Amino acid sequence: MNTKNTHWQEYYQAVNRRPHHPLVEQAIAENTSGLMVAIDAGCGTGTESEFISQAGYKVLAFDPDKEAIKICHERFIENKSVSIYRDCFETFHYPANGLFIAKSSLFFCDPIKFDQVWSNIKASIQTGGVFFGQILGDQDSWESNEKRLISRFSRHEVETMLSDFDIITFDEKRDKGKTAVGREKYWHFFTFLAVKR
Ligand SMILES: C[S@@+](CC[C@H](N)C(=O)[O-])C[C@H]1O[C@@H](n2cnc3c(N)ncnc32)[C@H](O)[C@@H]1O
Repeated sequence: MNTKNTHWQEYYQAVNRRPHHPLVEQAIAENTSGLMVAIDAGCGTGTESEFISQAGYKVLAFDPDKEAIKICHERFIENKSVSIYRDCFETFHYPANGLFIAKSSLFFCDPIKFDQVWSNIKASIQTGGVFFGQILGDQDSWESNEKRLISRFSRHEVETMLSDFDIITFDEKRDKGKTAVGREKYWHFFTFLAVKR
């Protein structure tokens, strides 16, 4: 497991109990796979997992961070539709699913392993199933360092990754801004919702 990402507590405090991303509702509506199984990859405090489970899905949520797992175990103690795993993109065994969520988390996948991870994700999403997530752009100011691995891609590379999908929404953001915990940075990322062909 990638153990470099161990300092997420501040982020979890900042975002805990924030509402789910509005595109998650569209993602649910677009799923025609007939499979009510969802994966919330790099789930953090479990905001998306909670909403998806309320829509009737069985959710498998994973995150490598100990604190995220503790928060999720407490959050879902009485919600048997959500299973929590301490795991990461690089080693998780992806079951067949109709909905795959990776919100602000693929940014931190090991770049050396990204191609294999993306191939595993793609294979797990069934025809008519939906991917909703975000990928960091190559102009973003975050770079891999000794504390954190970062995966970044050009727009062309992201479009190529989506060649087996019908793209429903695709947004590119490039802007100076702040992180959830208030640090200045240059943001470049893609947010998209796509249906597996
Ligand atoms: C910015 S947070 C996003 C959390 C949640 N998806 C959200 O939108 O609030 C990034 C999450 O990715 C997780 N993460 C870091 N490296 C990861 C990896 N290799 N595989 C899966 N998740 C990872 C972190 O532990 C953290 O919880």
